[in-house]
Amino acid sequence: MKKRTLCRRTVCLKLLCVALIVTGVLFTTLQILDVSTEERRNEQRNPPMTQCVPILRPTPASRGEHYNNENKERENSSCKAITNIFFLKTHKTASSTIMNILLRYGEFHNLTFALPLYNNSQFLYPKYFSASFVDGFSARSKDTYHIMCHHMRFLLTEVEKVVPANTFYFTILRNPVSLMESSFSYYKSTDSFIRAKSLEDFLSKTSYYYRGNSHARNIMTFDLGFNHNGKESPKHFRLTGKMVEATYDLVLITEYFDESLVLLKDALCWTFDDVLSFPLNTRTNSTKLTISQETQEKIKSWNQLDWQLYVYFNNSFWERVEKFGKERMQREIEELRKRRDQMSKLCLQNTAVASKIRDKSLIPYQSGKAIILGYNLKSGLGKAEQLLCQRLVTPEIQYTNLLWAKQRKSKFSSIKSWIIGVRRPK
Ligand SMILES: *[C@@H]1O[C@H](CO)[C@@H](O)[C@H](O)[C@H]1NC(C)=O
Ligand SMILES: *[C@@H]1O[C@H](CO)[C@@H](O)[C@H](O)[C@H]1NC(C)=O
Ligand SMILES: *[C@@H]1O[C@H](CO)[C@@H](O)[C@H](O)[C@H]1NC(C)=O
Ligand SMILES: *[C@@H]1O[C@H](CO)[C@@H](O)[C@H](O)[C@H]1NC(C)=O
Ligand SMILES: *[C@@H]1O[C@H](CO)[C@@H](O)[C@H](O)[C@H]1NC(C)=O
Repeated sequence: MKKRTLCRRTVCLKLLCVALIVTGVLFTTLQILDVSTEERRNEQRNPPMTQCVPILRPTPASRGEHYNNENKERENSSCKAITNIFFLKTHKTASSTIMNILLRYGEFHNLTFALPLYNNSQFLYPKYFSASFVDGFSARSKDTYHIMCHHMRFLLTEVEKVVPANTFYFTILRNPVSLMESSFSYYKSTDSFIRAKSLEDFLSKTSYYYRGNSHARNIMTFDLGFNHNGKESPKHFRLTGKMVEATYDLVLITEYFDESLVLLKDALCWTFDDVLSFPLNTRTNSTKLTISQETQEKIKSWNQLDWQLYVYFNNSFWERVEKFGKERMQREIEELRKRRDQMSKLCLQNTAVASKIRDKSLIPYQSGKAIILGYNLKSGLGKAEQLLCQRLVTPEIQYTNLLWAKQRKSKFSSIKSWIIGVRRPK
């Protein structure tokens, strides 16, 4: 009796083994086949954008015109939400907060992200971006991605290999003075900064301390793909500005964050709730320095490329606000703040340093001398509210891991449903 059951068990095991091998072979074959079904599905999911932004890269000149005459009152118009988005996530510019908006929008609308390989949180920065840094990328996976928003050093020709032609490109720039102060604190342990006693000390002996890292000079110019130790001449500044303008549909300004969100909402044809956000990746006030006038001037001159870029896009930003309508802007900012306050009352108990955050999965990454703050959520939230509140304060590394796992899983389940679909007709 005992022997027979044992025998049966081996048969079972063998069968299981055979089944496993067969599945393995199937799995590999289907992964190849799966790409084409995925492609087809995405064609249906991404009808060409009309109304909101009639863009076809690379004819960026026409885009300027579009924005010049779009801003009639449009609250009730039938524009279509843009879902193909490229965000160049610049460093230390409040870009983590923008990223959270994009990650949430994509997650809640089941969009596909172009994520870094191996569950990384950056596209092998500071190397120049390459399409091969995208998880699951192949020549055939182009057009299956909706949103791309992780840190990279921009290279247009490679980005274009990944995202569809009608993708909306945007980025954000910050005043280089406060940016440099923030970088110095955040990247204190990198080689250009590590030996400097203070920011003033660094600035007074740059030729001694500076080791060429992007973090220490013209980081925005670097992130945008240009030479951050490049030539400083009016012609060069103007050309760089024009090139960035030709590539990006919108350039936001950190100092005018709410104005930026309103312009973004308008350009993407999204709602107030879509662009709601809480500040992420912020420092405690104790690690922020006040900067003397003299130091400010030194920072500007040390980061002259970034400074010129900033002045250029600060100007075009305000021209855009002008076209949007100053009063309308004021109204929309008030509405945005009202909703943010409501959401904050609903979700947040307090901001907190890492050791005081109860939910360990919500602790933000800490770096250098900066103390990065996170949040505690209120308890007793309903299920849907809990999910929304949780996502609003999930730091980017954790959020990326979560999306990465989700996209892997959905890839697997699409293969599974394919198998079931094949078996059913028989
Ligand atoms: C939008 O249209 C709806 C119905 O057509 C109307 O009830 C609403 O007041 C309009 N909203 C605005 C802001 O015009
Ligand atoms: C996203 O997918 C989930 C699970 O398949 C589904 O329940 C949900 O309705 C989808 N949401 C949207 C906006 O399509
Ligand atoms: C992704 O990376 C994080 C570390 O950043 C790790 O904790 C997590 O387990 C990884 N997830 C997967 C699915 O490999
Ligand atoms: C930090 O500084 C800002 C601006 O000066 C102020 O609004 C905020 O209340 C301060 N936060 C704390 C925790 O002191
Ligand atoms: C940015 O533009 C605003 C509005 O024109 C202006 O008040 C501000 O001084 C500008 N900032 C810089 C750094 O040029």
